[in-house]
Amino acid sequence: MPTYRLFSHQAMAGLALLTALWFLIYPLLSSSRARGPGMWSLSETFQPQSKLMVLIWHWPFDKSLPLDGDVCAHYGVANCWLSANQSLLSQASVVVFHHYELQSGAVRLPLAQRPLRQPWVWTNLESPSNTHRLSHYQNIFNWVMTYRRDSDIFVPYGELVPRDGPAPPVTAKNRTAAWVISNYRQTQKRVLVYKQLSKHLQVDVFGRANRKPLCPDCLLPTLAPYRFYLAFENSQHRDYITEKLWRNSLGAGVVPVVLGPPRSTYEAFLPADAFIHVDDFSSAQELATFLKSMNASHYQRFFAWRERLAVRLYSDWRERFCGICARYPHLPQDKIYGDLEAWFKS
Ligand SMILES: *[C@@H]1O[C@H](CO)[C@@H](O)[C@H](O)[C@H]1NC(C)=O
Ligand SMILES: *[C@@H]1O[C@H](CO)[C@@H](O)[C@H](O)[C@H]1NC(C)=O
Repeated sequence: MPTYRLFSHQAMAGLALLTALWFLIYPLLSSSRARGPGMWSLSETFQPQSKLMVLIWHWPFDKSLPLDGDVCAHYGVANCWLSANQSLLSQASVVVFHHYELQSGAVRLPLAQRPLRQPWVWTNLESPSNTHRLSHYQNIFNWVMTYRRDSDIFVPYGELVPRDGPAPPVTAKNRTAAWVISNYRQTQKRVLVYKQLSKHLQVDVFGRANRKPLCPDCLLPTLAPYRFYLAFENSQHRDYITEKLWRNSLGAGVVPVVLGPPRSTYEAFLPADAFIHVDDFSSAQELATFLKSMNASHYQRFFAWRERLAVRLYSDWRERFCGICARYPHLPQDKIYGDLEAWFKS
C-alpha cells in the first residue's frame, strides 16, 4: 500500500499561503457583494460562525407560516433558526418587528423585557405615505429591513437574476394596455395619469376598484396578452418599486409603463430598455402616441433582457427573515435609529 505524507512541509506552507490569501481576498469579495444589487444572497450559501436565532415577534399581517425543519437552509442560509415563540425573547440573537401591527396597536414592543444589547430589527414594505406613527419608535431599532437599498437588510420586491436555460416565449399580444388597481383615490398621481392617458389609449382596468378582481391564479394569464402594463406605484418614494413591476409586468411578460421613483432608480434594478417611464414624456398624450405607434421590432427590444435574465420574486417572509442571518456579520454594531421617521421619510 502506498503511504501518503499528508502534511509535508511544502503542503503546510502552501496551505498557510492559501489561508492568508483567503483572508486577504474574502473581505473584498464580501464587500463588493454587499454593495451589488439584489437581496442578501442569490446562489451562495452563507455560513455564519455560530447558530443565530431570529425571533419573529409577530407575523406580518397576522399570517403565520410554518417554521418546521431548517427553513433557512432551504434559502441557502446555514446556521439560522427562525422562531415565533415570544417566550424565547431572552435567547434570541435578534428580534424582528413588522411595522403594520405596531402602527395599528395590535402589538406592543416588549421594551421592559428587552435583554441588554439585543439587536432589534424594524421591517416594513409599505411606502412612507402609508406608514404612520413612526415618531413613537425613536432610539429603539438597531437595523432596518425594507425595500430601500440603503437598508441594513435590503429586501426588494423582486430582482433580475442570471437565467438558466432558454427564456419561455412571451404570450402573443392582441390587447393594448392593462391596469390592476384595488385602491383608487382621486388624489393619487397614478389616478391622474391614468385618467389623462385613458383619453388617448385603450386601458383595461381590473381589480377591486373597478369591481373586476382577479384571483391570484388568474392575474398573470389575464395580463399576458397585453402589450403594456401600467406599473404605477400608489405613491412615489425613493426606491419604492413593488410587485406591480416585478410580478404584474415583467413576470407576466408585459412591457411595464412605470410611475414611481425616477428613471435612474429603475435603471439600478433593470436594463434601461426594459421599461417605459412616464417621466420620459411631457404629456399623457405624447406617451399614448408613443405606445400606439410602436412597431413590432421596437416592441421586441423591450424583451431583450429575457435572453440572459429572469425575474425573481420575493414574497415569502421567511426568506426575508433568514436574510437577517445572512447579513448579520456585515451589520453595523452599536447602530441605533434615533429618528426612524426622519430616515424613512428622507
Ligand atoms: C385575443 O386573443 C384571444 C385568444 O388568443 C381571444 O380570446 C381574445 O378575444 C382576443 N382579444 C382581442 C381584443 O382580439
Ligand atoms: C420601427 O420603429 C423604430 C423606432 O421608431 C424605427 O427606428 C424603425 O425604423 C422602425 N422599423 C420599421 C420596420 O418600421
